[in-house]
Amino acid sequence: MAVPRFAVISGAQVQDALDGREKQLVELVEAIYRLHGAGASVNPPSCFLRFPDRPTARIIALPASIGGPVRVDGLKWISSFPENVAAGIPRASAVLILNDHDTGYPFACLESSIISATRTAASAALAADWLSRGRERPTRVGFFGAGLIARYIHSFLAGTGWSFDEIGVHDLSAASAAGFCGYLERSGTTGRVTLRPDPEQLLRSSDLVVFATVAARPHVSDLSWFDHDPLVLHVSLRDLAPEIVLASTNIVDDVEHCLKADTSPHLAEQRTGSRDFVAGTLDDVMAGRVTLPAGRPVVFSPFGLGVLDLAVGKYVYDEVASSGKLRMVDDFFHELRRHG
Ligand SMILES: NC(=O)c1ccc[n+]([C@@H]2O[C@H](COP(=O)([O-])OP(=O)(O)OC[C@H]3O[C@@H](n4cnc5c(N)ncnc54)[C@H](O)[C@@H]3O)[C@@H](O)[C@H]2O)c1
Repeated sequence: MAVPRFAVISGAQVQDALDGREKQLVELVEAIYRLHGAGASVNPPSCFLRFPDRPTARIIALPASIGGPVRVDGLKWISSFPENVAAGIPRASAVLILNDHDTGYPFACLESSIISATRTAASAALAADWLSRGRERPTRVGFFGAGLIARYIHSFLAGTGWSFDEIGVHDLSAASAAGFCGYLERSGTTGRVTLRPDPEQLLRSSDLVVFATVAARPHVSDLSWFDHDPLVLHVSLRDLAPEIVLASTNIVDDVEHCLKADTSPHLAEQRTGSRDFVAGTLDDVMAGRVTLPAGRPVVFSPFGLGVLDLAVGKYVYDEVASSGKLRMVDDFFHELRRHG
C-alpha cells in the first residue's frame, strides 16, 4: 500500500469534465440510487452547522461511502448563505473530499458547487422521466424559484430529451426571474417563456412544476392549485404545506433522510404521526416495487444524498486524471516515517 498523491481540482476543470454529459450523468445517478437501494452504500445523516448570529445561513457536512464497482469514500462540505445573492455571488459554495478505499487517505479536493448542482439536476431529470411514465408526458413546465438550481435543472431536462411548449417562471425577485428568462432565451429553447408573477397562475398552467426557492417554511397551501394533478419536483423541500403533501403521492430519495430538518414531508409526518403518506423511494419506482396511482399529484422530494456527490466527484476525478491534467500538491502528506 502506498500513500496516494493529493490533487486539487478547480471549478473550471469540474465544469469542463461535466459539460455536455447530461445523459451519462443521469445514468450514473440512476445506478447510484439502485446501489444505495441495494444497501451497497453508507450514507449517514447530514450534519447541519447553524449560527445564532446568521440565522439564514448553514454549512452542511455530507459524509458517504460507495461500495460496488465505484469504491470511494468522502465528504461534501457545502455552505448556503442566501444573502450572498444580493451581493452578486452564488448562495452555495462547496468542496468535496475523496478518500482512498484502501488507505483512507484523502486523495483529492474538488470544487463542489458545480458537482452539487449537477447531481441535483441529474436526479431531478431522472425523477421527471420515471415519474411521468404511464401518464401523459408534461409539455408545460413551471419554475417556482429561478436561481442557479433552476437553471441546472432546465439544462438537464433539455439535455436528456425534454422539450416544452410552455415554460412558466415565478420568483419573488423580479431580477432573478428576468435573469432566468435571459438564460432560457440563450439556451435556444423553442418553448414560449411566460413570466408568472402570480404563483397560482404558475401552478395551474404547469404539468411539471420545479420548486427551487430558498423558502424556510411552507408558502403554498391551496390544494385547488393542484386540481390538474401535476408532477412536482420539490427540490427545495420546504415549499409545500403538509395538506398538499398528504393529498399527493410522495416519492423521496431516502425516507430516513427526507423526513428530517423541517422538510414538508417531515412536517406532514409530525402532523399525522405516521409515514404512511410516503409511497416509496425513486429506487422503489425504478424497480417496480411502487406504482403511481392516477388522479393525484405526484411529489418528488429529494433530500440530496452524499453518495451522489461522491459518484459525480469520482467521475470528474477519473475524467481529469485520464486527460493527464490532475494538479498534484506533491508534499501534501509529509510526516510519513512513523518513528522519524
Ligand atoms: N434537494 C437537494 O438535493 C438540493 C440540492 C441543491 C440545492 N437545493 C435547494 O435548491 C434551492 C435553490 O437553490 P439555488 O442555488 O438555486 O438558490 P438561489 O438563491 O440561486 O435561487 C433561489 C431563488 O428562489 C427565490 N425565492 C425564494 N423564496 C421564494 C418564494 N417563496 N417564492 C418564489 N421564489 C422564491 C429567490 O428569489 C431566488 O431567486 C435551495 O433551497 C437549495 O437548498 C436542494
